[in-house]
Amino acid sequence: MPIVAFNSVTDGLEPHRRSRAHFITNTDLEDDRRWVPYANGVWFQPCWFNVTSGGFSVVLKGLPGAMVGTHYHVGTVHGYTIRGHWRYLEHDWIAKPGTYIYEPAGEAHTLVITEDSPEPMVAVFVVEGGLIFLDRGVNGSFAAYEDGFSLLELSRKHYREVGLEAGQLDAMVR
Ligand SMILES: [Fe+2]
Repeated sequence: MPIVAFNSVTDGLEPHRRSRAHFITNTDLEDDRRWVPYANGVWFQPCWFNVTSGGFSVVLKGLPGAMVGTHYHVGTVHGYTIRGHWRYLEHDWIAKPGTYIYEPAGEAHTLVITEDSPEPMVAVFVVEGGLIFLDRGVNGSFAAYEDGFSLLELSRKHYREVGLEAGQLDAMVR
């Protein structure tokens, strides 16, 4: 869950388990257990937890009509759409398979998978820094905070609940 009250957090790893080396991870879009529930009709598969910048990268999946609430980015975002149609309520374009998007820091937006999307949306997002959820779309105030740490915690909890080896997530920590 997103953070609404703050304490110091760490990645929870012993120093000898923390690596700066390159790595690969294999997602599995067809394995339901690997999808971490995030919002109504929205899931993610983690790829990278950047505990240096607070960023992260994920594969995001959403059902037609589902949404991720309005949020503000403190860092850049890169996205690449693999399946389905989605948009931000604040923009007039529609992302489709093959659409790449770059978002500057300082942008607030509301992600919706279009009602007429022919299939669930699947997109990769590389997020360099935390995001701040807002309590309303225009001139909103703080509602919750999300970053690589909070998503690591959420992913570990889900992996334990569904019987996946949570240690797989440690290898994604940088
Ligand atoms: Fe965003």
